[in-house]
This record gives sequence, C-alpha cells and structure tokens, in this order.
Amino acid sequence: MAHRSARRRRPFGHAALTGPAVQRIVVLASGSGSNLQAVIDGCVGGVIAADVVGVVSNRSDAYALTRAADAGIAAELVTRVGDEERRHYDQRLAASVASFEPDWVVLAGWMRILTSEFLDRFPGRVVNLHPALPGELPGTRAIERAWDEAVAGERTASGVMVHLVPDEGVDDGPVLASRVVPVDASGTLETFAAAVHDTEHQLLVETLAGLCASDSS
Ligand code: GRF
Repeated sequence: MAHRSARRRRPFGHAALTGPAVQRIVVLASGSGSNLQAVIDGCVGGVIAADVVGVVSNRSDAYALTRAADAGIAAELVTRVGDEERRHYDQRLAASVASFEPDWVVLAGWMRILTSEFLDRFPGRVVNLHPALPGELPGTRAIERAWDEAVAGERTASGVMVHLVPDEGVDDGPVLASRVVPVDASGTLETFAAAVHDTEHQLLVETLAGLCASDSS
C-alpha cells in the first residue's frame, strides 16, 4: 500500500506556484526514539524542510512507535518471523519502507545490520546516526565503551557522527557531519551519555536540515 498523500506530493516544474518540494523522511527505530522525536520536532518546527511520513520498527515494545502515534505519523512493525533469513527479512523491511515513498531513510537507534537487499533499494538515501566519531567504536554500546576507555585513561573525548550507508559496513560510510563530545572520567557515565544524546539530537537535525534544503533547491 502506498502512503503518499496528495498534499505531500512533490511539485514538478512549477515550484513558484506550488511552493518548495517537501522531502519525505522515513525513520527506522528500535528503541526509545528520542532521536526520532528530535527529527519530528525539527520537521514540525520548520527547521527541516521535510515531513516524517512513516516510522518503522523491528520491536513491538519500541517507544518510538508510541511517539509516532502521538505525532499522528503512520507506523509499521516489521518483526523477524521465526528463523527467517536476514536477507528475506530485509526484503520485507524494504517493501514496508518503500511504501512510504521516502526521499530519505533515517536510521535513528536502529539496532539491526542492514544487508544489500535493503540498502540497494534506497541508494545514496540511507542515513545513519552513530554515537562515536568516524572510524571509532562501531557496533553496539559505543557510549559505554568510550566511557570505559576514558576511565582507563585511554581517551578524553568521543563524539557523534551522521553518515551515509552505502553498503553492509557497520557504522561506516561517507561522513555527513561529526561532533566531538568530551569525556570527563571524574564525572559519571550518565552525564556523559546525556551529553552524547543531546549532541546526537542536534547533529541529526542539523544534518537532515542541510540534506533536505539542498535536495529541495
Ligand atoms: C542512540 O544513541 C543511537 O545513536 C544508538 O542508540 C541510541 C538510540 O536512542 N544507536 P533513541 O532510541 O533515539 O532514544
């Protein structure tokens, strides 16, 4: 089923008559969805020239689904069935995401590795958020691992990056933006994690604002 509404159809040709194109963002989220919320707020507030037209989760208990419902955004749950092969799951996931006809697919706390079965459906259009600097701490628990290294005296800073996802590499791909977050090992993990999350929310919104502005012009 296609989810594109007439109101949101992108204009062809007569931009002066119809206004600027509004980009369509689909967010994939597995958890709390605080980054999803930042993107929704950025779109509603006019910072990002886009609509979040769909949210897809792989977890029925993801609070991101509640955030989508509260914002009146269509949400779909695509769970893995039994011992379903990863590539088959990714085909179903891609079909769900494609039904929203996205300009951008944003992985915001999406906790599954995506195969080319998914990525090849949206070339150059998948954006990932990683709570560490480029080339550092790929995979899960990046914040906790950065903290452990700081406590061991091995680092004084970590950060956040937003990047394109061209292939199956984990937390790797052309960097769109990154920002350093200092780690104060005399503080607490909770304080450091909060600083990373604040930075994620800001950097993701800023980056999507830039992408959607340049894509609409
Ligand atoms: C974020 O730190 C994200 O970078 C990581 O998981 C966390 C998700 O947070 N991969 P939320 O669900 O957006 O609140």
